[in-house]
Amino acid sequence: MAVQEDGAYLDGTYGRGGHGRAVLERLGPEGRLLAIDRDPDAVALARKQLGADPRVRIEQGNFAEMGAVSAKAGFEGRFDGILLDLGVSSPQLDQAHRGFSFLADGPLDMRMDPSQPVSAADWVNSASERELSEIIWRYGEDRYSRRIARAIVASRGQRRIETTARLADVIAGAIPARFREPGKNPATRTFQAIRIHINDELGSLEQGLDASLDLLRGGGRLCVISFHSLEDRMVKRFMRRNASEDEAWRGLPEVPVHARAKLELVGRAIRPGPDEVRRNPRARSAVLRIAERVR
Ligand SMILES: C[S@@+](CC[C@H](N)C(=O)[O-])C[C@H]1O[C@@H](n2cnc3c(N)ncnc32)[C@H](O)[C@@H]1O
Repeated sequence: MAVQEDGAYLDGTYGRGGHGRAVLERLGPEGRLLAIDRDPDAVALARKQLGADPRVRIEQGNFAEMGAVSAKAGFEGRFDGILLDLGVSSPQLDQAHRGFSFLADGPLDMRMDPSQPVSAADWVNSASERELSEIIWRYGEDRYSRRIARAIVASRGQRRIETTARLADVIAGAIPARFREPGKNPATRTFQAIRIHINDELGSLEQGLDASLDLLRGGGRLCVISFHSLEDRMVKRFMRRNASEDEAWRGLPEVPVHARAKLELVGRAIRPGPDEVRRNPRARSAVLRIAERVR
């Protein structure tokens, strides 16, 4: 992110604040940080950790709406860096009552922002078999998506599926033992798919990427860490598309400002090495991409 002492930074996914605080450590008294998270627990933690720091503003919200959220926080002008560290946080995964985990039994919820109207249980108990199998296939790439969808519909016909353990059992029962991926819980892919769908994670990412272009100052950096191939593809395409001039004008002598390249790629995708994965196994699928706003 090449943090400058007196710069303004947006952490769109505060989580437990590892990145946000690392940015803050590099800021001088004139530097500023806006921390956003859609999860009220993360926002409460941010207030506890950083609430007393006059350089920091904290807002609950979706980074898809980062323009409106930063205006609400009183941020004028543009940012020198925007960070999006996508997906779920460790506390969301580890706390059974948030309903993200097939390892710990809890209510089947999975909403990052519990005020969203539809929980995982609402969706799992009402979606058609076809919709279930499409989402499990699209976001989980589980080749048993059809079997799993059929098993969910059969099971909920007897009694609503209300807990993570029950859903994990239904999924496990749908996949014959000999077809299971070794070392991987058979519910992994389906849980991931339902989470991405319930939180409209790809829709938020698309909007957030677009919004970042107008909020970055020339030379400001957009840094995005993704954990899923569909997210990474979206980030990669967005950065590449904006790093070249509009096709309609390509090769012409005078290219108007709106059609010029808006971003310049900074290096290639960065992935964790074996040491980092050993220290932090949850980083194993992470990909960081960086681009700089053209002046
Ligand atoms: C991988 S964690 C971030 C961890 C953080 N960088 C840290 O160092 O602790 C992702 C966080 O982003 C939040 N989040 C995910 N999608 C979001 C969105 N569209 N808008 C705002 N926050 C989001 C989640 O609630 C979660 O707290």
